[in-house]
Amino acid sequence: IYDDFVRCFKNETTISDDSLSDVVLSRTSVSFTPVLRAYIRNARFNTSSTPKPSIIIVPRVDSHVQSAVNCAKTLNLQMKIRSGGHDYDGLSYVSAVTFLILDLSYYRNITVDVNDGGGGSAWVQTGATLGELYYRIREKSEIHAFPAGVCPTVGVGGHVSGGGYGHMIRKFGLTVDHVIDATIVDVNGQIHDRKSMGEDLFWAIRGGGGGSFGVVLAFKVKLVTVPKTVTVFRVDKSTDENALDMVHKWQFVAPRTDPGLFMRVLLASPTKNKTRTVNAKLRALYLGRADDVVSKMTEEFPEMGLKKEDCKEMTWIQSLLWWMNHVDVDKVKPEILLEREPDSAKFLKRKSDYVEKEITKPELNRLFQKLATLDRTGLVLNPYGGNLNATAVKETPFPHRHKLYKIQHSTTWSDAGPDAERLYIGNMRTTYRIMTPFVSKNPRSSYFNYRDIDIGVNDHGRDSYRKGEIYGRKYFGENFDRLVRVKTAVDPDNFFRNEQSIPTLPHTR
Ligand code: FDA
Repeated sequence: IYDDFVRCFKNETTISDDSLSDVVLSRTSVSFTPVLRAYIRNARFNTSSTPKPSIIIVPRVDSHVQSAVNCAKTLNLQMKIRSGGHDYDGLSYVSAVTFLILDLSYYRNITVDVNDGGGGSAWVQTGATLGELYYRIREKSEIHAFPAGVCPTVGVGGHVSGGGYGHMIRKFGLTVDHVIDATIVDVNGQIHDRKSMGEDLFWAIRGGGGGSFGVVLAFKVKLVTVPKTVTVFRVDKSTDENALDMVHKWQFVAPRTDPGLFMRVLLASPTKNKTRTVNAKLRALYLGRADDVVSKMTEEFPEMGLKKEDCKEMTWIQSLLWWMNHVDVDKVKPEILLEREPDSAKFLKRKSDYVEKEITKPELNRLFQKLATLDRTGLVLNPYGGNLNATAVKETPFPHRHKLYKIQHSTTWSDAGPDAERLYIGNMRTTYRIMTPFVSKNPRSSYFNYRDIDIGVNDHGRDSYRKGEIYGRKYFGENFDRLVRVKTAVDPDNFFRNEQSIPTLPHTR
């Protein structure tokens, strides 16, 4: 496969033999394993039995991406596109069939213009990380920011094309609500911008997942402005300290309060939990001063008991460092946002749910009791509401606006082997099962960026549309139909595919 691919690649593009060995990596190349492992962010997919690609392509210029698409198509090879490698189920770098990886880690240019269009904008290549984007914005201005994920190593390619949210979702909506242009390599190896790709494809890659439609090279995003001083706070409560009351009331306050306030709650039993209790950890960002948020919360949410001493005022960029668990942010340099942390992955699995109606206190209490018996499984509650609801549901492929909050089911562990995996994923599936009565139904919805192959997979055989509809409706609701129409128009032979990509309409196959 490698020889055939190289022959094709050299025909398609002008490249010296020296550069070729850096761009097209065979399994025998010394760079193959380091490059493969550098962006595996889930240790479950970094084992000797994990299927490996036949070739890794590490493009340096657009023509390499174009040639990679053309040659993979000619040789009928499955192409996995990887930017930051944070796909929770490893779909950007694992496959059951023969495949190659297009690794965009050298595609990381960022150009920030804080004066463009009045509010500022940035062109960011998809192999850049969110941390790099935030850092480059901060180089230009302390009051400009971008509303995306809070983990700095997440890649722009998957995150933005899959929706994207962070701790300003209630003020500024989703990441994709701020995308104003993009460049993409289509199935014919042609490069398009927003104008030449057309509004349908531009709509699809703002939340429908780039991997179904082409290789996104870069996004142009609108920046937002934030106050010079913002406030963060944390409030931790155990079962003895009213955790139940706080979480019950949180459901009423967090999705309805000032859009500048984002309060996330993490529910989990402590790792060495002999007493079998649940802790509730609340982490918050307020786009304003401490006095304001304390007085608001004293009135709206006395059960939290927020005091001025719980609050820290800082710049927006420092709030990201604080969110990364750096307590004393004055001692941490923002350059930490540029770190890519190779090989730091733990074993993990994530699932997601949406809550539309507050859970009653007795039901929440039963949930706490059950959660306390399950090691290493937790629930992360992310409030919605605020300005997320200002955008119409059909405006982007993301259909889950107007929900109260999203749950991330989460399990993370460090001991290798099938026993640990069976136990912890089993525990998490138990919490998922017991949440059934309290979450969205028909279909039970999921957030596309929290990839979860439990909700359906596709081998893209004869039943591709039917299989795609199973996970597709959970991720995209009614927007699934438009995604299928766009897919059928731009990639009728389904070259850009993975285990959860958008299928084409059945009659075209
Ligand atoms: P990766 O490279 O694995 O790609 C993910 C998917 O996108 C794959 O299907 C891939 O083929 C496709 N893709 C990637 N680049 C592409 C390109 N250039 N063109 C076309 N398709 C492309 N989410 C969130 O919304 N808010 C958050 O705060 C967080 N936090 C977070 C923390 C951690 C530690 C993890 C592991 C994950 C998150 N996420 C998240 C989820 C994250 O947004 C999601 O996994 C993204 O898809 C990751 O994008 P990457 O480019 O890193 O992934």
